[in-house]
Amino acid sequence: MEQIRTQVGIVGGGPAGLMLGHLLHLRGIRSFILEDRSEEHVIERVRAGVLEQSTVDLLHEVGLGDRLAREGLRHEGIYVAFGGERHRIPLAELTGGRAITIYGQNEVVRDLIDARAATAEPLRFEVDDVSIRDFDMQQPKIGFRHDGQRHELTCDFIAGCDGSRGICQPSIPASQVRIYERVYPFAWLGILVDAAPSSDELVYSLHERGFALFSMRSPHVTRLYLQVSPEEDIEQWPDERIWSELDLRLHTRDGWTPLRGPITQKGITRMRSVVVEPMDSGRLFLAGDAAHIVPPTGAKGLNLAMADVWRLAGALGKFYESGNETELRAYSERGLRRTWRAQRFSAWMTSALHRDNSDAFDQRRQRAELEYLVSSRAAMTSLAENYVGVEFD
Ligand code: FAD
Ligand code: PHB
Repeated sequence: MEQIRTQVGIVGGGPAGLMLGHLLHLRGIRSFILEDRSEEHVIERVRAGVLEQSTVDLLHEVGLGDRLAREGLRHEGIYVAFGGERHRIPLAELTGGRAITIYGQNEVVRDLIDARAATAEPLRFEVDDVSIRDFDMQQPKIGFRHDGQRHELTCDFIAGCDGSRGICQPSIPASQVRIYERVYPFAWLGILVDAAPSSDELVYSLHERGFALFSMRSPHVTRLYLQVSPEEDIEQWPDERIWSELDLRLHTRDGWTPLRGPITQKGITRMRSVVVEPMDSGRLFLAGDAAHIVPPTGAKGLNLAMADVWRLAGALGKFYESGNETELRAYSERGLRRTWRAQRFSAWMTSALHRDNSDAFDQRRQRAELEYLVSSRAAMTSLAENYVGVEFD
């Protein structure tokens, strides 16, 4: 078995793991990233599309802003639609100029992989049989297999950036963690379409048949979602059925409707919230979806992952500079504050915009909630400041 030594062993080469590796490299800290899928799979996986202001600022600060500046679409507002009307929420005006940027998660990942390749720092794809041990000691270890050969990585710290199906969080003894979970009674059917977006801003819509979301990836690609049952089978959704449901749920009285085009990707994602407390165990630190999952309605998942690794890299930087562990020990508590804030916001957006099995009273109350939202500057400001995101802390 080959023995390897590094400072920080990173499990997972998604946005959290790759960004952590980049931030550590900028601080002169060595890391080793292990990813179990192929490079193509990681780059092509269609996921998030909304970057908060602080995520955009971070990408610029760390030298990854060039393509983002050229290709990202800055949006200063979103629409909330119900009762056949679209109502604009002017995000930038309500938050002193903060906005969101549309730039696919896979583009962020591509930029991060390119940045990693430009350094001599290791990033291994298609590893398997990954396990971690001894993270309650000074020299934790990561075992893995690559190209048919077993390796053992000895590190100072392990970063668990391996998402919701990873091995790091389940490796923490159950008696040391508390897991909070909420499973929602719906899922999102998402499609990617080769068609120009027919609205220049996102439309979050509640219709009596359920939620629908109009989003985009570029001036030529539209992204659309429909609320469906978690048991729904994608095979039961031929293109025509998807389009007619989208038309019904998104069409507004001013005649607006999404433009159709060839569907290039479709999939169903179940919705749940998870929070793992604490986010660390000895010398293991969880970041991103490995530590928390939010329903996508608030567009917070990727942004929370970026906030986590920004904080973790800062704390590791302090440790390697001075031996001071204060920030590392505060990592979990500070992260959980941000996580719960995002959970509250995402749960609120989800309940305000989805149809569940509620009775007639709840449906009228939900309508009143949306009417209040679009008529009160205070209510719109509350949505706006959470949606564009608070500064990294
Ligand atoms: P992941 O992206 O899951 O990365 C973890 C990585 O670890 C993966 O590459 C995985 O292959 C790898 N891995 C797993 N197990 C192992 C192992 N044992 N060994 C090695 N590697 C392993 N968020 C937003 O902010 N805005 C949005 O608009 C948004 N929309 C979304 C829409 C959809 C349909 C979905 C599914 C998610 C959306 N999200 C959104 C959430 C966002 O995609 C995630 O929060 C984000 O991917 C988290 O990044 P991560 O690096 O923590 O985890
Ligand atoms: C997306 O474009 O994929 C997207 C946008 C907003 C969300 C979730 C996903 O809330």
